[in-house]
Amino acid sequence: MNVNIMNVDYSTKIPNNVNLSEDRQVLKALEGWHPGYIDWWHDMGPDGFQQSLIYLRTAYSVDPRGWAKFDYVKMPDYRWGILLAPQEENRTIPFGEHFGEPAWQEVPGEHRAMLRRLIVIQGDTEPASVEQQRHLGKTAPSLYDLRNLFQVNVEEGRHLWAMVYLLQKYFGRDGREEADELLRRRSGDADSPRMLGAFNEKTPDWLSFFMFTYFTDRDGKMQLHSLAQSGFDPLSRTCRFMLTEEAHHMFVGETGITRVVQRTCDAMREAGIDDPADIAKVRGLGVIDLPTIQKKLNLHYSLSLDLFGSEVSTNAANAFNAGIKGRYRETQIEDDHRLQSDTYPVLKLVNGEIKRVNEPALTALNMRLRDDYTQDCVKGMLRWNKVIATAGYDYKLTLPNVAFHRAIGEFRDVHATPDGVLIDDATWARRKHEWLPSTSDGDFIASLMTPVTEPGAFAAWISAPKVGIDNKPGDFEYVKIET
Ligand SMILES: [Fe+2]
Ligand SMILES: [Fe+2]
Repeated sequence: MNVNIMNVDYSTKIPNNVNLSEDRQVLKALEGWHPGYIDWWHDMGPDGFQQSLIYLRTAYSVDPRGWAKFDYVKMPDYRWGILLAPQEENRTIPFGEHFGEPAWQEVPGEHRAMLRRLIVIQGDTEPASVEQQRHLGKTAPSLYDLRNLFQVNVEEGRHLWAMVYLLQKYFGRDGREEADELLRRRSGDADSPRMLGAFNEKTPDWLSFFMFTYFTDRDGKMQLHSLAQSGFDPLSRTCRFMLTEEAHHMFVGETGITRVVQRTCDAMREAGIDDPADIAKVRGLGVIDLPTIQKKLNLHYSLSLDLFGSEVSTNAANAFNAGIKGRYRETQIEDDHRLQSDTYPVLKLVNGEIKRVNEPALTALNMRLRDDYTQDCVKGMLRWNKVIATAGYDYKLTLPNVAFHRAIGEFRDVHATPDGVLIDDATWARRKHEWLPSTSDGDFIASLMTPVTEPGAFAAWISAPKVGIDNKPGDFEYVKIET
């Protein structure tokens, strides 16, 4: 393996392992884009803390065994760079009509528009999440959590750079225009919103943040896995490295929710509460009751399912046929990787009932990826439910039915309970706050969101993590706050 590819050149203003110093045109384009990015970071990145020293990891190689270096950094000084996983020698296109042909090192002309669109959509989600999370620093439950938030934020910023690099290097003038547009759209903006629904929602509190990093970053993981299979090799290599960073974001979500559930169970035990559904009593302890955690879960899971698009989609089929976007773990699947005559079971609405219907596997690729996603989501649920069971409570967090609270796909025009029972509009209107957070649920959670900034201390609604970041001790000062 080429050592130069593994290590990152920090001599240029933009750290990279793609030889930017010899790629003057692209370097110039990126340097031209840089000031706009910094402006965006100051306008829309974390509110406050820009002068604080944050204990962050920065990528200095793409070696999976040790690519990160930890140190105190001011966020605006973070070295956002371009990092691609090493090129695999003789890599071939692993699926679609071009199956087995050498992977493309340049954009295939006939698929240029489709490829650019997929890169732009992925790129748009990255700054969007930073915008959604920008107010959370002010209410962090600990310095440990504050540091994790900022780590996620700077890396989402780097993921934007990753997509912008592809646009500027491979798509010429319209790539540069798209790169500018990525800095212009804003999450939740009435005139110029981000491209996908879930990325225009608010992330009002830390439970939402953990749900977002668990469920919505996991959609990102699935999309990146599919794009990492791409026949367009630079996209594949980019996504492969992004996935190593993404793992931490989902760790933050999974352990965050575990710690909230743990604290709630501990508090209920200490107070001798036997019924976890006694919401008023549990809230009286200053912790978040399990039924409210379930409502937040219902919200974020259903919003994230919408990100997979329509269950049956010719766009998905076209992207697969073209060799642009594959399946989750494509190379490990044992079939012909062309899917011309295969079928896949899709949940559909048939005469007012939810039924499994076989569809051509090619058009059902979104459904398949969504199924893979759901399976991946289940793992964390098992962990959270184990915490609840170990504490001696007969209560289970569950994923709602796919027909529940959907805005895209087969179930967008119907209402369903989390158990998948179809209900009419009036019933939905009357009962939806049994299943989704109400204003008063939000107000209660907001009332707990007071910042804790003493090293080693944690807000009363969340337990301490089992291990520190970079194996630091419990009272480590992850953020040196400077106002
Ligand atoms: Fe990302
Ligand atoms: Fe992420």
